[in-house]
Amino acid sequence: MAVYQVLKLPDETLRTRCAAVTKINDGILRVLDNMRDTLYAEQGLGLAAPQIGIPKCLIVIDTGEQYIELINPEIIEREGEKTSTEGCLSVPGIIGRVPRSLYVKVRGLNRHGKEVVMEGTELLAKAFQHEIDHLDGILFIDRAIEIKREG
Ligand code: CO
Repeated sequence: MAVYQVLKLPDETLRTRCAAVTKINDGILRVLDNMRDTLYAEQGLGLAAPQIGIPKCLIVIDTGEQYIELINPEIIEREGEKTSTEGCLSVPGIIGRVPRSLYVKVRGLNRHGKEVVMEGTELLAKAFQHEIDHLDGILFIDRAIEIKREG
């Protein structure tokens, strides 16, 4: 088990457009495993590779229902809209009201290189959008219509 340090603003890696993974090798699998360990250690709902200093298209999510890891994820369908509160491990102490699609369909690769399509609504949809935004260097504060200090 290895827990990465989660980068915080203004670290430039958080603003990097991440590279697609072209080969799923042992290094990538180790990063995914350590991202999982870091997600649970930090008690986050999701984590993207740039948050731990690796500008590659990898995300992990656990909103409490199932553990999800995706390589090169992209949103291929979206529906509806809902504005709700968000925070981010990389932006400590700040929360914001962020409009997101209520439903998304996401396509990516699993760790075996097989294409998978996943759907999410509400919290899971929000997590997909938040984490995939990280891969484009976008943070929730960029999309928030209202930002405030936590607590
Ligand atoms: Co985040």
